[in-house]
Amino acid sequence: MHEINPSKTQAWTQLSSLASTYKDLTITSLFDDQSRFERYSLWLEDMLVDFSKNKVNDEIRSALVDLAKETKLQDAINAMFEGKPINQTERRAVLHTALRNRSNRPVYVDGADVMPEINKVLEKMKRFADKVNQGNWLGYTGKPIKSLVNIGIGGSDLGPVMVTEALKPYQSEGLECFFVSNVDGTHIAETLKKIDPETTLFFIASKTFTTQETMTNAHTARNWFLDHAKEESAVAKHFVALSTNLNGVQAFGIDPDNMFEFWDWVGGRYSLWSAIGLPIASAIGFQHFEQLLAGAFAMDEHFRNSDFDENIPVLLALIGIWNTNFLGAASEAILPYDQYLHRFAAYFQQGNMESNGKCVSRNGERVNYSTGPIIWGEPGTNGQHAFYQLIHQGTQVIPCDFIAPAVSHNPIGDHHQKLLSNFFAQTEALMKGKSLHEVRDEMNQAGKSLDTIDQVAPHRVFEGNRPTNSILVQKITPYTLGMLVAMYEHKIFVQGAIWNIFSFDQWGVELGKVLANGILPELEGEEPINAHDASTNGLINAYKKMR
Ligand code: F6P
Repeated sequence: MHEINPSKTQAWTQLSSLASTYKDLTITSLFDDQSRFERYSLWLEDMLVDFSKNKVNDEIRSALVDLAKETKLQDAINAMFEGKPINQTERRAVLHTALRNRSNRPVYVDGADVMPEINKVLEKMKRFADKVNQGNWLGYTGKPIKSLVNIGIGGSDLGPVMVTEALKPYQSEGLECFFVSNVDGTHIAETLKKIDPETTLFFIASKTFTTQETMTNAHTARNWFLDHAKEESAVAKHFVALSTNLNGVQAFGIDPDNMFEFWDWVGGRYSLWSAIGLPIASAIGFQHFEQLLAGAFAMDEHFRNSDFDENIPVLLALIGIWNTNFLGAASEAILPYDQYLHRFAAYFQQGNMESNGKCVSRNGERVNYSTGPIIWGEPGTNGQHAFYQLIHQGTQVIPCDFIAPAVSHNPIGDHHQKLLSNFFAQTEALMKGKSLHEVRDEMNQAGKSLDTIDQVAPHRVFEGNRPTNSILVQKITPYTLGMLVAMYEHKIFVQGAIWNIFSFDQWGVELGKVLANGILPELEGEEPINAHDASTNGLINAYKKMR
């Protein structure tokens, strides 16, 4: 990877000057160009990505593409796909793309093609997942599995839960999925109340197989299971491990035959395509899991081979950089108009913030520009009745991605038309706003008194000019979901590459973990603690008295 400070490029200087030249540019005025929608939207198969409602004109667009070129983005893309160790602080390749490489062309890590190993694990996953999915995997009393419980956290939870929820219509009848992540005992306790040990399969999902939360929950699940089953030998029918750590898995007491392997070049938050996807494949059947991989592969091919100016993830990333670094946006909302995508924003909160929440550049210096934005969101229309107020009328500009399927899995009455009328209306409202003049006219026509108009009208003004992207897919299928997820993964990658940061490590989660390990033994006994600052000591000692 090159180490280019983006803020030192000609394109960055050009973009800064364009930001001041066009500070009063309105998005609506850009639509004087009758061809704007066609020129500022792209199709990939049956996915339409409309980025026309952004404060981006042709000059800005071309300077953004120049920024990608000057920072040598294509080299970075090639390095990732070719298995170069681009995660330099951990000396690892980054190859979630190899996991869904449906072309099967070789991908080399340290001179060895990783595809045969990937295909071997996929075969093993297929045999296992279909057995579970079709009711042929039997528990220790001979009953088919009904409950799938994934125990994992971070990427080992969010990927499986997001996809399983998104693809619920494809789930086999009679199977129910549960996800336990929090070390808070409530999470596992409430799950154990709902399941029967005779018909439950636990997936212990952890890349490292050392994560405190996951290991604690896994041991609790195992103890609970053995309390019922009594026989240690029954564990083999009810516990499988998804991990890179064979020794850890064996030490826990899971037979290596029940281990589904992946590799250190799969980042935790990019792992749903690996063995971490086994609960997904078990729930929806392997054939659907393969469709998910195929959709992601289609996006990979598009990303790898398209010119930047026609490249969906690249353009979304560049527009994000424009909003963040030149228009001052500090957060981005992801707003799916599909209830099945209710964990999508949470998934990319980790995907994006753990990847690009960095303030040190690849050369080890503090960056002098903003990097990853805060990612958040909820499904529409719920969000409309919660936080859209601030998006429409707050002081901060929050670029939003609106995502919707044209066809619902649940075509009941006019629900979907109503949902989609909101989807279309919101981006229009955010762009157009409503002027004081319009508000006053409207109130006047409604017969309001001049006093009321003077008093209330300013509060009913919408400044508008708020940027959005709209992503419309035909239907949320395994294939389109694969495309969507890969699209955002690559957007994150492009931004990290241009911001000159390492997107594939996550050192920022370490400090708290280490301190918690130090504090854990201090919580034993009644002795007051004085090893910390006054606030931390005070809190620990208050806790000891309160419990
Ligand atoms: O939060 C840090 C992290 O390492 C994530 O990147 C990862 O998804 C999560 O912990 C879980 O890690 P593991 O799969 O090793 O249990």
